[in-house]
Amino acid sequence: PKNTTHIPQKWRNNEFCKRKKRYPPEKLDRIYEFNVREDDTWIITNPRCGTTWTQEMVWLLLNNLNYDKARNVNLEERSPYLEFPACDNIEFCDKLASPRVIKTHLPIQILPKDIWTKKPKMVYVSRDPRDAFVSSYNQELTFRKIYDVPDKNQFFRNLVKYSGYWEHVLPFFEQRNRENILFISYEQLKSDLKAMVLKVCDFLGKSYEEKDINSLVEHLSFRNMKDNNSCSHKRQSDLVRRKYYEMEVIAFTDNSPWKGIVGSHKEELSSDLIEHIDHWEKSYWEKEKLTLKDILFS
Ligand code: A3P
Repeated sequence: PKNTTHIPQKWRNNEFCKRKKRYPPEKLDRIYEFNVREDDTWIITNPRCGTTWTQEMVWLLLNNLNYDKARNVNLEERSPYLEFPACDNIEFCDKLASPRVIKTHLPIQILPKDIWTKKPKMVYVSRDPRDAFVSSYNQELTFRKIYDVPDKNQFFRNLVKYSGYWEHVLPFFEQRNRENILFISYEQLKSDLKAMVLKVCDFLGKSYEEKDINSLVEHLSFRNMKDNNSCSHKRQSDLVRRKYYEMEVIAFTDNSPWKGIVGSHKEELSSDLIEHIDHWEKSYWEKEKLTLKDILFS
């Protein structure tokens, strides 16, 4: 094996990295050595936490609210998903003009090492895992799979066991007071989008007139985002579908399963599953002396 990597062994062996062989070691090595730029903005999340929403907001704020370009160039190209399994977005990101807006779901421990010296801006978005998991499930149902629809109970138990959800959120929560990190939540975006747009705008060092902020808030409304073809995952879907067809893992479609609400788990999860998740979370809260509310409304 090559001796080039600095990625801790425990992460290379982590379920997250092994899952579906999505992140082969060569790819993780390249990501670890990735050229971070000081003027990058990174959007870092667990899946289904409002990543797309935040990417569109940040990209527009950084690009003089260029709605024409936002309409004409898909978000996947304006704000690429670094570790995207189906094509080489690492090279794509390398060639992208500054200021880049990079999306990643990688946990803190395997982010490019330069992130800690170049100190790009990072926006971390958290969400109640119950709703994020329900969102993943709804997305999964739209997968055109060769396999049957997964067993719901098992699907959620696997997420609890393998997603590393809190191992992803908590280290960023700890770092939230760094100047280059903004830690927000889906719940905050839902409860006062305008206030959050202003907060992100300020974090990015930008300033716009109130009428422009109001138009951006309208552009980012659920209705508009759901219908926004430029923010759908169409290209990603096509690429994944092509790449994984042979492997019998078929990709997701577009934004159609989006519901855009807080608390979707209350309708969609059995009391047994909610209890299972509560029990799992309790171990973190006891250890960290925190509550879910502390994290979602920090
Ligand atoms: P739901 O599936 O619960 O509806 P990601 O981009 O990280 O995959 O997150 C997708 C989730 O963000 C979906 O959640 C989607 O509805 C939600 N979302 C995207 N844009 C939104 C908006 N403008 N308002 C509310 N929720 C939004």
